[in-house]
Amino acid sequence: MDRLFAYLSKPKPYEPSTHPFWDDEHISKGMLEAHLNPDRDAATRKHSFVKQSVEWLCKMFPSQKYPKVLDLGCGPGIYADLLNQKGYSVTGIDISERSIAYAKAQNPNNIYFCMNYLNCDFPAEFDLILLIYCDFSVLREDERQKLLRIVFKALKKGGYFVFDVNTLKFYQNRPEEQKNWYLNEGSGFWRDKTYLVLESFYIYEPDVFLKQYVVLEEDLSFRVYRIWDKAYTEKSLMEELKTVSYSECRIFEDVCGKKFNEDSRTMCVVLNK
Ligand SMILES: C[S@@+](CC[C@H](N)C(=O)[O-])C[C@H]1O[C@@H](n2cnc3c(N)ncnc32)[C@H](O)[C@@H]1O
Repeated sequence: MDRLFAYLSKPKPYEPSTHPFWDDEHISKGMLEAHLNPDRDAATRKHSFVKQSVEWLCKMFPSQKYPKVLDLGCGPGIYADLLNQKGYSVTGIDISERSIAYAKAQNPNNIYFCMNYLNCDFPAEFDLILLIYCDFSVLREDERQKLLRIVFKALKKGGYFVFDVNTLKFYQNRPEEQKNWYLNEGSGFWRDKTYLVLESFYIYEPDVFLKQYVVLEEDLSFRVYRIWDKAYTEKSLMEELKTVSYSECRIFEDVCGKKFNEDSRTMCVVLNK
């Protein structure tokens, strides 16, 4: 109980989860369903958005000129599949075995690896590298820098890196820090038997946010999942990208190429090596 109480106060910035999230045997089932649900912005955005996004990517980076794509955090391959249909050869990386197994079964043309993208090490062989759905900003600062180096190395000269993040506007209308709880009877998103969730939302000024879920089972064992998010302004993002020497940086509102403005809740960054 003492241990549990310790987990109920505000954690230090970037304290990790106690258990894996994306590749948990049970959670990954719900995640796969969420990816495949075309009508929800869940693990993947609504599939109508993804299609629009792929159209924009094809226009910006035609497959004839930019044929080799690396999709970091590809999930079950929703983007990778559509890109392959448009003529790209896609390598997808994801930490979830369940998602990668699905992606492989769906599309034998693409190459898929189940691994942590922070551990990948490719030579300069890709024309286009994607990290889509605000995955950059869940990482700690040292991990973000590591990923920037990995991506820069893996890109051919002239290649592009496209990723998106939440802006501070995304959090503007959120309430102050919050705590909440609910009881889930029977199997649910977090576990396959009855559990209690103690949910908290914490703000770390000026721009880091945490959603924490303490999931408690009937035998009083518990797991703590922490989803960190750093929200950016154009300025704070540019500051972070200073360590890698891209020749050009363009900003859009989203990965469909919508124009960025001061009210945009997301920011899509296009970097040219
Ligand atoms: C929010 S989902 C986005 C999926 C996909 N990019 C899309 O837009 O459909 C994040 C994905 O990244 C994967 N992921 C999270 N952390 C990862 C890591 N360190 N290495 C590899 N994959 C990771 C998750 O398993 C999940 O499939």
